[in-house]
Amino acid sequence: MNPYAAAVQAAPLAAGGIPARGQYVHAQAPVDTAASTVPGTAAVDVVLFGTGLVGSALLTLLATPSASPLRLLGVANSRRQHLAPTSPDGGQWLRLPAGAGAPRDDTALLAALDAGDAPVKAIVDATASEAVAALHPQWLARGYRVVTANKALAGGPLAGWLALQQVLGDAADYGDAALVGAGLPVLSTLRRLRRCGDRLQAVEGVFSGSLSWLFNRYDGSVPFSALLHEARELGYAEPDPRADLSGADVCRKLLIVARTAGFALEADAVQVESLVPDTLRGLPVGEFLHAPGELDRRMAGRYAEAASSGRALRYLARLDEHGRASVALAAVPPTHFAAALSGADNVFAFTTTRYHAQPLVIRGPGAGAEVTAQALLGDLLDLA
Ligand SMILES: NC(=O)c1ccc[n+]([C@@H]2O[C@H](COP(=O)([O-])OP(=O)(O)OC[C@H]3O[C@@H](n4cnc5c(N)ncnc54)[C@H](OP(=O)(O)O)[C@@H]3O)[C@@H](O)[C@H]2O)c1
Repeated sequence: MNPYAAAVQAAPLAAGGIPARGQYVHAQAPVDTAASTVPGTAAVDVVLFGTGLVGSALLTLLATPSASPLRLLGVANSRRQHLAPTSPDGGQWLRLPAGAGAPRDDTALLAALDAGDAPVKAIVDATASEAVAALHPQWLARGYRVVTANKALAGGPLAGWLALQQVLGDAADYGDAALVGAGLPVLSTLRRLRRCGDRLQAVEGVFSGSLSWLFNRYDGSVPFSALLHEARELGYAEPDPRADLSGADVCRKLLIVARTAGFALEADAVQVESLVPDTLRGLPVGEFLHAPGELDRRMAGRYAEAASSGRALRYLARLDEHGRASVALAAVPPTHFAAALSGADNVFAFTTTRYHAQPLVIRGPGAGAEVTAQALLGDLLDLA
């Protein structure tokens, strides 16, 4: 048995076995089938940026037998990093204990990758950092493979997307399955359709797991803000829920979908309806969470108006064949394909030149650290 190989031991984890945001636990039970953390044979050497909800869930998956072709050489959050992240007893550090690890230094992380002997070297971006995302083209140009949950580059200004395409060339070698639909086969399907000569004419759907969950639950009986608190506790909403409510995250996903389908959309071409009242935009997050009166009043009004005609509220992303794009709250009739969603479901309806009588619909859970981390793992294993 490789004494350095790692396995996850259930140290106090959040419900579902997934570490809570920022949690990064120490696994002790070594097995010889999990992702290795020291020299030996591996098909893919890996460095991970981000140890929040998604990064921690990926660390858990990296310690399962499925990840045996992968070797984890470094782990970093915004403050500290670990190279060869093994503990003194040979287990894998899945949580950086307070004060442990070395100060952040990207050069040292990349040097660890360079020193590894696997034929493929991959960087996983499980941050939401624009600065980290901006490094993707540079990393790719240096021969590293990039697997990402971070939408900031592909869903940011068009120039960033174009820089990415330039460095990728014809290779669809960007591990992007986690970017849209938390791993649902959305972008891969769009690429496959394009390869077949099919052309996207329109897309409509619910692209946000947190907004889906909120509007699937909201029936006007409790204040909207009470559901926001619950969504935060469940890890569905961002720590500052205005990141979801502003529509910015959905806008990024719509841009990624549109661009993958061949529409070179600039970020400001999307009409975005923010659900955050102007009066609450500039508040510190703590104050926003405790002063949501205006938000609650508005949502109650929108809900009552929709319910009076038997409709449901859904936060919809739309793109038509002329490239007109919008994200906005809509009141949909019960017959609408997005009306019957549950939980944190996402749904994507693609109308194409060949799927024109009925759209091609992809639906399933569109949020959650475990499925998102699995999308990252799948992209890493595709490199092996
Ligand atoms: N949660 C989901 O269900 C979900 C689904 C799909 C996609 N995503 C995407 O996945 C990404 C991560 O989400 P999350 O929920 O895990 O976020 P999170 O819990 O806030 O974690 C973000 C992590 O990134 C780290 N980080 C920030 N800047 C960094 C830097 N310069 N270098 C290294 N690490 C850095 C943070 O470090 P500190 O701990 O030091 O701040 C933190 O560990 C985001 O882009 C998100 O949009 C999430």
